[in-house]
Amino acid sequence: MKITPRVFSGMQPTGSLHLGNYLGAMLQWIKLQDTHECIYCVVDMHAITVWQDPKELRNATRLVTAAYIACGLDPKKTIIFNQSQVHQHAELAWVFNCVARLGWLNRMTQFKEKAGKDRENASVGLYAYPNLMAADILVYRATHVPVGEDQKQHLELTRDIAQKFNNDFRESIIEAGFEDGIFFPLPEPVITGPATRVMSLRDGTKKMSKSDPSDLSRINLLDDADTIARKIQKAKTDPEPLPTEEAGFAGRPEAENLVGIYAALANTDVASVLREFGGGQFSTFKKALAELAVEKLSPISTEMKRLANDPAEIDRILTDGARRAEAIAAPIMDRVKDIVGFIRG
Ligand code: TYM
Repeated sequence: MKITPRVFSGMQPTGSLHLGNYLGAMLQWIKLQDTHECIYCVVDMHAITVWQDPKELRNATRLVTAAYIACGLDPKKTIIFNQSQVHQHAELAWVFNCVARLGWLNRMTQFKEKAGKDRENASVGLYAYPNLMAADILVYRATHVPVGEDQKQHLELTRDIAQKFNNDFRESIIEAGFEDGIFFPLPEPVITGPATRVMSLRDGTKKMSKSDPSDLSRINLLDDADTIARKIQKAKTDPEPLPTEEAGFAGRPEAENLVGIYAALANTDVASVLREFGGGQFSTFKKALAELAVEKLSPISTEMKRLANDPAEIDRILTDGARRAEAIAAPIMDRVKDIVGFIRG
């Protein structure tokens, strides 16, 4: 059972996806499916760490699956499934609850943000969330994890958990036949591209997010052409012309964000965008950005809507993906049980 290159990542089915998810993660997912074995999950178990209406959760899980496929993931080549259908995620998460330390989880900034002031009332699941995320990745012994910048801290924790498991159980791991004493790989974050942290269109210091109360702050994959154009037109900017080089972004987060979005959508880099638009007015640039965004996103929303009309087909894709995912996860989880000292039949 050698460690081979394998990609794992996931998104939460809480509402529809937005431009941050698309540029920060999905574009990398799509590229990687041509070169690697890839497993992409809709993490419904993570979603319930905050309250979800059951009907809406089912719909959102199907809609995010439709988005995966509409964006260009190929369910024949790549495994696409929803987390709760593969019970090994939950089983390994429990083992990791016993490996990770309270002090490690206490440092997680995302928990602090999400729990807010009323921490006593946050679910235990929200607190233990990063352990389940580590289990998602390591139950496949995945080596590469394409994500946006905001997941970096969770991936560092995943590496710490893998390392501690390997250390704590070293003897047992060797006894189980892994001569080098290494059972879990330390997975590499893949955080690349010009838009690893897409910011709110209303405030360049805040991340674009599903939970922002203002819909004008984000572009949703299901927005129609007029809505996309209007949101870009209304996006906050400053009175100066666009800078001619990247150093000119200092103190201008909104300008930096819009140029990064353009570069990612055009599959180029920030320097090339500035060569074209630097020194010009925002009005000209915003018009070009709106056209580009509509050109890239409209086909995705049309395809998402078409796929969403056939929920039975989506469920079939998820179940087929879950079966293939479990075929990889089950023997790895069996080994974990042996290593930890659980008796199995
Ligand atoms: P989630 O559902 O919040 O986001 C899905 C992916 O989109 C990226 N992302 C962004 N990238 C750039 N700019 C933004 N404004 C932006 N907003 C979101 C996220 O970084 C992520 O890659 N915990 C994860 C889901 C998860 C997971 C995993 C990921 C569960 N298990 C295992 C990787 C591996 C999350 O909540 O992502």
